[in-house]
Amino acid sequence: MKKIILKKILSHLNLLSIIEQINFYRQKWKNRKSNKKFKKNNPKVKLPPDFYLYETFNLNYDKFYTNGIPTATWLINHLSQFKKLENISILDWGCGTGRILRHLPLTLKKTNTFYGTDYNKKYVKWCSENLEGIHFKNNDLHPPLQFKDDFLDIIYGISIFTHLSEELHYSWMTELTRVLKNNGLLFLTTHGDAHTFKLLPKELELYNSGSLITHTYKKEGNRLFASYQSPKFLKDVFAKNNLIVLNHIP
Ligand SMILES: C[S@@+](CC[C@H](N)C(=O)[O-])C[C@H]1O[C@@H](n2cnc3c(N)ncnc32)[C@H](O)[C@@H]1O
Repeated sequence: MKKIILKKILSHLNLLSIIEQINFYRQKWKNRKSNKKFKKNNPKVKLPPDFYLYETFNLNYDKFYTNGIPTATWLINHLSQFKKLENISILDWGCGTGRILRHLPLTLKKTNTFYGTDYNKKYVKWCSENLEGIHFKNNDLHPPLQFKDDFLDIIYGISIFTHLSEELHYSWMTELTRVLKNNGLLFLTTHGDAHTFKLLPKELELYNSGSLITHTYKKEGNRLFASYQSPKFLKDVFAKNNLIVLNHIP
């Protein structure tokens, strides 16, 4: 809670960008030995620029690459409960630097088609130039996506809605539904009950009553814009798009 108040003060004083730079160099220093070791042991693994890793995940090469594999397996295990992962098209919406997506063509059958999109052009450029077997496209902060109606079998978005406003929750859910086939699967991670410890008491009350809570230290889309979605809030967003919840993992 103290962290929220401190962040609000720093944001008010326009000091967040400086703090971000300091944190970046702190992470770089802290991980220097482990990152050096990773590079030495894995000379063929392509790694995005350090700042991209810092912005999208964590500036630790081992956590980014090696732990990306069990995360991809975790995702596949969830998806395969509901759909056969063969001859289908899969989109990673908000793919960042491809932390999870890069492992899918190596793990799943070659008969699948893989897509990745992000609103950050730098990440899409890096992915397009460095990751094979995947089609990358840009999208804007606001919809649409560059896909026809009913085009994709599966869309997943890991930690994307967690950085969007209420307006974009509604417009993106409608857009994702548009490009998803009728029997398609949508797999999303959000800041639900497991993250309510980050809310102030007043915010928690609003969260429980079904409002979206946002901490807006930067423009939406950025990781310093954080939103918290109660199951009640999401139920409404899903219902408006005729989406059926097959599974909810708190
Ligand atoms: C926390 S990072 C997660 C990246 C990736 N999904 C992963 O798990 O490593 C959030 C990502 O969402 C992207 N993003 C934010 N708003 C977006 C939007 N409206 N459309 C597409 N991507 C967006 C950011 O550029 C960033 O890559």
